[in-house]
Amino acid sequence: MTTHSVAVIVGSLRKQSFSLRIAQALAKLAPASLKLNIVTLNDLSFFNQDLEANPPADWVKFRETVQGSDAVIFVAPEYNRSVSGVLKNAIDVGSRPYGKSSFLGKPTGIVTSSPGPIGGLGAALALRQTLPGITGPILPQPEIYLNAVGDAFDEHGEIIKESIRPVLQAYIDAFAAWVALHKK
Ligand SMILES: Cc1cc2nc3c(=O)[nH]c(=O)nc-3n(C[C@H](O)[C@H](O)[C@H](O)COP(=O)(O)O)c2cc1C
Repeated sequence: MTTHSVAVIVGSLRKQSFSLRIAQALAKLAPASLKLNIVTLNDLSFFNQDLEANPPADWVKFRETVQGSDAVIFVAPEYNRSVSGVLKNAIDVGSRPYGKSSFLGKPTGIVTSSPGPIGGLGAALALRQTLPGITGPILPQPEIYLNAVGDAFDEHGEIIKESIRPVLQAYIDAFAAWVALHKK
């Protein structure tokens, strides 16, 4: 069986981040056809086009990690009805140089969450505005907006709110089929 690698980009720097926990849960639930590699953004510096002629090592590392993956999933918290600054910065770094986006052609997933009631819908919509043109095909269905995640995990990151497990399972199974479809 072919195994496809997936860069799972976590849009929060918080140690106890729900986004990170969701990424880790997806990695555990993923079928054998996918290998999820969790990518955190703590060491990624700000994009500055002046530096593009001699890009910083952290940009090069991030771009090579994405380029070396078959697919990408963005796991995003919602900040002020959009994505966090660190995630937008990572998208900007990965999207350049112009015409050479590291995400290009890679099947792409969008997963958002919130401790609140709307599950990061605003962040997902922001990503659906930003990503077309710089990624590959974005999984259209199922959409996944995980709301009320504040009590979904224990202190070790294990799922304790069992209702989210089948939601995450259905998502990662559909994403595996999406990757297989586009990476034959
Ligand atoms: C600057 C900021 C803006 C936020 N804006 C929203 C928002 O628009 N909608 C929402 O549901 N939650 C919002 N939140 C709450 C986040 O959903 C919550 O802090 C969440 O835990 C962040 O994701 P993380 O756990 O992965 O760090 C905001 C939090 C911060 C720090």
